[in-house]
Amino acid sequence: MQDQQIVTAHAAELNALAATDTTRWPSKRRDFLRMLGYGAGAAALGPALMACGSSNSATPAAELRAQLVANEAFWADVQNMFTLDPTKTFMNIGTAGSMPKVALDLFDTENRKKARESGNGYSDHNALRALVAPAFGVDVDELAFSANTSSGMCHAILGIPWQRGDVIVTTNHEHGGGNTPLAIAVDRYGVEISRIEMPVGNNQTAATYQNLFDERIRTLKSAGKNVRAVMWSSPTYVTGTLLPIAEIMEVVKMHGLISIVDGAHLPGMMHYDYSALGMDFMSGAGHKWQCGPGSTGILIIRNKIRASNPLPLPKWYPVHTSTYSTRERTTNGTATYDIAASVTSCGSTHTPMFQALTSACQLWDQIGRKNIETYDLTLSAYLKEKIVERWGVESLYSPKDDPKLVCALTSFNVFRNKDDAMNSAKATQFVSRLQAEYPQGLVIRNASFPVIGAASNHYAMRISTHLWHDANDIDALVDAMWDLSGKMA
Ligand SMILES: Cc1ncc(COP(=O)(O)O)c(C=O)c1O
Repeated sequence: MQDQQIVTAHAAELNALAATDTTRWPSKRRDFLRMLGYGAGAAALGPALMACGSSNSATPAAELRAQLVANEAFWADVQNMFTLDPTKTFMNIGTAGSMPKVALDLFDTENRKKARESGNGYSDHNALRALVAPAFGVDVDELAFSANTSSGMCHAILGIPWQRGDVIVTTNHEHGGGNTPLAIAVDRYGVEISRIEMPVGNNQTAATYQNLFDERIRTLKSAGKNVRAVMWSSPTYVTGTLLPIAEIMEVVKMHGLISIVDGAHLPGMMHYDYSALGMDFMSGAGHKWQCGPGSTGILIIRNKIRASNPLPLPKWYPVHTSTYSTRERTTNGTATYDIAASVTSCGSTHTPMFQALTSACQLWDQIGRKNIETYDLTLSAYLKEKIVERWGVESLYSPKDDPKLVCALTSFNVFRNKDDAMNSAKATQFVSRLQAEYPQGLVIRNASFPVIGAASNHYAMRISTHLWHDANDIDALVDAMWDLSGKMA
């Protein structure tokens, strides 16, 4: 299908989106949107709700709850945009999201059209990418559609012509989606991997990570190693620690390195301007927090020199493509070719999938990406405070107090006997009993990871808070987890 046809096909979606046009909502809700996302309101309600710590009037949890409840009607409207099974409470968006109705309907219509007309999918989806890119702060040549986060990580890591002995600095809390292409690079090119051991819990700051990466790179360099790249998850999937991209980028630039971010959870959760952050690659999922269809991802690739990152663009070859440019990458502010097109176009693609992803992205733009980020983080901050009230702050694997490190993933040790955190069977049982034995059908997951000084891996309960949740869901979850942890003590 040609670009023009895709745009035409997309017109139906835009009409459908008009039904959720926020300008048509009552003024009270519009005012709330403005207050939540911008100006003084944003400062007061920003990440981790910094303001709550300065209050004398109530506990942080009570204040956070009051803020969530005050705006319940608006978010109830947003909740109604989804088709999730009402007998369950889905709190594992970190693994998979759910398409909003508007995207689902478009997907359905376009699938049927494609089946009826037997259309092909030869395209770099330029027109759709152009609709998505601005909200991510990049140009169309810098935003590719990938198959998912793992596919984007393969594009990024396996496209770089590594030399034997090159060192990639990363962490010991990476996901297989990044670890697998790293392992291939080790065997195929003789790359060396240097892993930093990750701290856990609330007692950490953005500076902790800046120092950890800087110290490791300096140590390697002084041992004569050829450090070439840094690869890290932001956030990590195990503790939900948002490794601070801006701070780590300062280190990357100071040492002249390639930067690769596993940002699986970023699209649809955090409202970032990627051209300002300036990393070389950010691989995110389209099917998690962004709530596009399965098999969709968003890969951002730095494709021109900006003040945010004056380093030369790394040499890179497409590894999975039908579009290959032999041009050199640019050395200035103008791209020499559309690198994102070469990632996106590989044979015949399933166009309805990317149309539905674009539809979900446009819905997010309409609700307001900053509003969504603030809401998700408020829910997560509320959950963390309630966990602290019951289990104590030392139960948290996620940070809660440094706004630069928090995201909408919350990870903690649910067990009354703290050593049970190392009991894999108990962790599995906890997740299945939580869903089976409580009326809300609570769906969470556990995640296993090394903890500095621990004899074996810890198994945290990991909870995702997103658009279809409210304060009541958090209350029900915390009560159920407290009850079940008592029963399993
Ligand atoms: C940090 C991280 N990276 C990569 C992945 C893989 O994601 P995908 O299924 O989009 O490939 C995940 C999935 O949970 C993840 O959490």
